[in-house]
Amino acid sequence: MIFKDRVAIVTGSAQGLGRAMAERLAADGVKVVITDVNEEKINEAVAELQAKGYDVFGARCDVTNRDEIRALGEKIIGKYGKLDIVVNNAGITKDASFKKMTDAQWDAVMTVDLKSVFLVSQELVKYLEANGYGRIINISSLAGMMGNFGQANYSAAKAGVVGLTKTLSIELGKKNITVNAIAPGFINTEMTRVIPEDRKKAMLAEIPVGRPGEPEEIAAVVAFLASDEAGFVSGTVINVNGGNYR
Ligand SMILES: NC(=O)c1ccc[n+]([C@@H]2O[C@H](COP(=O)([O-])OP(=O)(O)OC[C@H]3O[C@@H](n4cnc5c(N)ncnc54)[C@H](O)[C@@H]3O)[C@@H](O)[C@H]2O)c1
Repeated sequence: MIFKDRVAIVTGSAQGLGRAMAERLAADGVKVVITDVNEEKINEAVAELQAKGYDVFGARCDVTNRDEIRALGEKIIGKYGKLDIVVNNAGITKDASFKKMTDAQWDAVMTVDLKSVFLVSQELVKYLEANGYGRIINISSLAGMMGNFGQANYSAAKAGVVGLTKTLSIELGKKNITVNAIAPGFINTEMTRVIPEDRKKAMLAEIPVGRPGEPEEIAAVVAFLASDEAGFVSGTVINVNGGNYR
């Protein structure tokens, strides 16, 4: 993909999908800020990517904490002088059937998976505006499109990400900032490794291409939306799920 000297931040990028997104963007020549709450894993990811010759920079940031996000923004400007691409990827699950779901499970997922997209985008958008150019990419989920047993909190948060994405695309379009969402289906990461085997089998049976997705297959779509070439794509959701939801 074409990137003209771009700087990106990927939240929750110490492992899983975020790690793959960071690597893909870095391989495409983008300077990438790797941020997460897991410092040990940030250091591992940064060391691995720097060993490959990529220009990456690691910093801890809890995406639910506005002050930490603001401080990270200032650090990025100090290091790279600008920011062009924001990928809101950090997310958690706290599954329980609807009747058993606690307030704490509901609130945690709403805060990390939905409010964080509001906080991170609001704190960092001034840097994109200053460029007269920007890309915001929000990671939703198949669960946000279809619902999923045991994920009332997660599916509501991920559907919320889609509404937020569409509104931001309207409000920020004039500043030459595009805002899109990706809704991954079942992808091989830590998040899905903990799903019980019988449930996994049932989920796989629903996927027309007959296999789970790989993190690199989501990262490729992030690279497209983040690229200079995707300037006329905004306010949309790209479903990447092997044909599961059409
Ligand atoms: N794996 C899948 O099948 C799948 C499917 C659809 C959507 N998603 C979404 O993709 C994103 C990445 O998921 P993954 O599978 O790579 O999960 P993962 O658990 O492997 O990685 C998530 C990362 O986010 C970080 N994180 C959690 N809370 C944070 C916080 N408050 N601040 C900063 N970082 C935080 C974690 O430390 C972790 O490194 C999530 O938003 C998830 O909901 C995943």
